[in-house]
This record gives sequence, C-alpha cells and structure tokens, in this order.
Amino acid sequence: MKHKILFLPGDGIGVEVCRETRKIIDWLNEKLGLGFVIDTALIGGAAYDASGTPFPPETLEKAKKADAILLGAVGGPKWENLDYSKRPERGLLGIRKELGLFANLRPAIVFDELADASTLKREVVSGLDILIVRELTGDLYFGQPRGVETLPDGTRRGVNTLVYTSPEVQRIARVAFDLAKKRGKKLCSVDKANVLEATEMWRQEVQKIGDSEYPEIQLSHMYVDNAAMQLVRNPKQFDVMVTTNVFGDILSDCAAMLTGSLGMLPSASLGDGSHAGLYEPVHGSAPDIAGKNIANPIATILSFVMMLRYSFSLNAEADIVEGAVKSVLAKGFRTADIVQPGMKKLGTNEMGDVIIKELDSSLALAAVNKIKA
Ligand code: IPM
Ligand code: MG
Repeated sequence: MKHKILFLPGDGIGVEVCRETRKIIDWLNEKLGLGFVIDTALIGGAAYDASGTPFPPETLEKAKKADAILLGAVGGPKWENLDYSKRPERGLLGIRKELGLFANLRPAIVFDELADASTLKREVVSGLDILIVRELTGDLYFGQPRGVETLPDGTRRGVNTLVYTSPEVQRIARVAFDLAKKRGKKLCSVDKANVLEATEMWRQEVQKIGDSEYPEIQLSHMYVDNAAMQLVRNPKQFDVMVTTNVFGDILSDCAAMLTGSLGMLPSASLGDGSHAGLYEPVHGSAPDIAGKNIANPIATILSFVMMLRYSFSLNAEADIVEGAVKSVLAKGFRTADIVQPGMKKLGTNEMGDVIIKELDSSLALAAVNKIKA
C-alpha cells in the first residue's frame, strides 16, 4: 500500500532536519518494503520568495491529497519586516486552520541518556513522560477583531481577541481525555479563569465533559502562571495537560527544556480525520545556526515516529526507529545542543547517518534472532 507523505521543509534548519528524516523513510522503503511516496512543497519564507505568498494554493492542494505531512520550520529575520499576511508564520497558521488541525500533541519525554542534559536536576526530570495537548486553531492566534490602528490623536492601538466557543473547548477536551485514558488517567486543564472570562468558560466546559463522559479520569485545573512554575518545580506531577493555543505555545517550549533541548521535542497536529495529520518539531527555524550542519534532527525524526503511529498505525516500525534513536544516544552520540563532556559530537548529517547505521544493525540483530529461534 502506498503512503503519500508531503514534505514541507520550510525555512532555516527545517530543510536540514527534513533531509535527515528522509533518509529514515528511504531506509524503511528499501529495507522493510514500505510504500512511502514523498512529495515536496513550499511553505513559509521559502514559499514567499518563490511565489510572493507563504502558503501557496498548490501547497494546500498537495496537503489535501497527502496521507500525512511532515513540516520542518518556518520563519527568519529575512522576512520579519513583511506585512503580517505575508510572513512565514502565516503559512504555518494557514495550513493548521485550512486542514482543521485543532489538536496539537506535544509529548515531553526525558530519555534516560539525556537526563543530565537538562538544566534541571536529574531527579526532577529523570523518567519524565508528559503530554501537552494544545488547542491549535482558536484563541488570540485567529480571533477577530485583530490589528493595529492609529487613533486620531496619533497614538496607536493594537488589538487581538481571545475567543473560544464551547464546541471548540469540548472537542479538544475529548482528545485530551481520550489520551489520558490510554496513559496515567490524569488530566490537568490549564487556564487563567481568575482573570479571563473566556478561559473560565473553558474550565467549566472541560469539567462538564469530565463529569459526564470521563468519570474515571482524575481531572484538575490550574492557572497558567502556576502551571509554568509547577512545570519547572515538579514536572512529574503531570500526566496529560490540556490548554489553549497561546498557553500551549508557551508551556510546550518550557516543557521542551525539561528534556534537555528544544531539539528533542516532536509534535503531531490532528483534526477530525477528514484531512492528513501534520507532524513537526516544536523548535523553530533557528536562523542563527541554519545551513551549518549543527542542528539536531531528532525532534523531526521523532515527529515522523508519531506519524508512523498516529497516521499509519505502523507501531512496530515506529518502535524500531525510536529504538535506533535511543541507541545512538546511549552510545554517546550527540548534536551540539545536547552534547556533554565525554560524548561524541556530531553534525546534523552525521546524526542521521548513525541512526541509519543503528537501524541496519537492529535489522541484522532481528535476522540473527530469527535464525536462532
Ligand atoms: C510553534 C511555533 C509557532 C506557533 C509559530 C512559528 C507560528 O512557535 O509551533 O509552537 O506559535 O504556533
Ligand atoms: Mg512555539
């Protein structure tokens, strides 16, 4: 069976990290006979440079036909002064909205090998496995009215609107409850209900869904300022967290650092199933290190692992790729962002290669075990 994957490398290190992930897909095709077919399209600044828009219609067309989408990153200083509607970020927001990808899953897992790479103490982060479920198509990101106007007295007034409807809250709550059901059965919903009415409504709707549909899940609520503090104080108290678009953006970067580096955090953006899921690293385009072969490709490779699980139900294959990533870390291979004394520092390209080598040896091992059995 053919699986159509659309690559949207985007800008900066997005291009490099997608290239390494492609090696893994080629390997799966060649060695395990999987039928992945890759197409590529432009998004972000690269699309703007080529066609004057960060989200060209043909990219949307291809995205609608794909079975899954892998996105690198968008943005960079080159495009910072463009009108909002032309900025690279509009491309990313556009594809999320057009495909109805309202649920963004951002797992923060600390691999044992990396527990010392975190800026937090080992005992605070070792064994950490939390999942942030971020609402992705509402809130200040999309609310109307928005914009900046100049008032008659010459001062300027900027407006963005925090808006949610109850069905939007209910559908993201259900995604989070369902995920909590498969994990530690604990859900913490994060809001600012003490100040913002829209998020007080959020809290009430989440509670209602919990009471009526998921009585077996232990539901708690937390204000976002406290949640940020708790994430660095005692992150292991959490299992699944569900929150708004803006709070999720901020808290997921915070959670990423628990794992040692933003270069390690994958994500999946899913909708109601009528369109392909989109998978992307949580990190951005990192223009300062772009093109230097030093970026960490692991967040993107792990995003592809999420694609194998969520879009293709290829769980055994996902385990193989994830296992290879863990093995190279266990062997002391590191990119610059997670390197520590005594470890072997690799470039982006070389990290991709050692993961492939690891995949080869896992295959050889499986063959030997089969003969022995
Ligand atoms: C993210 C990013 C994006 C966001 C930017 C690049 C628009 O920070 O995916 O977290 O804010 O959603
Ligand atoms: Mg972000």
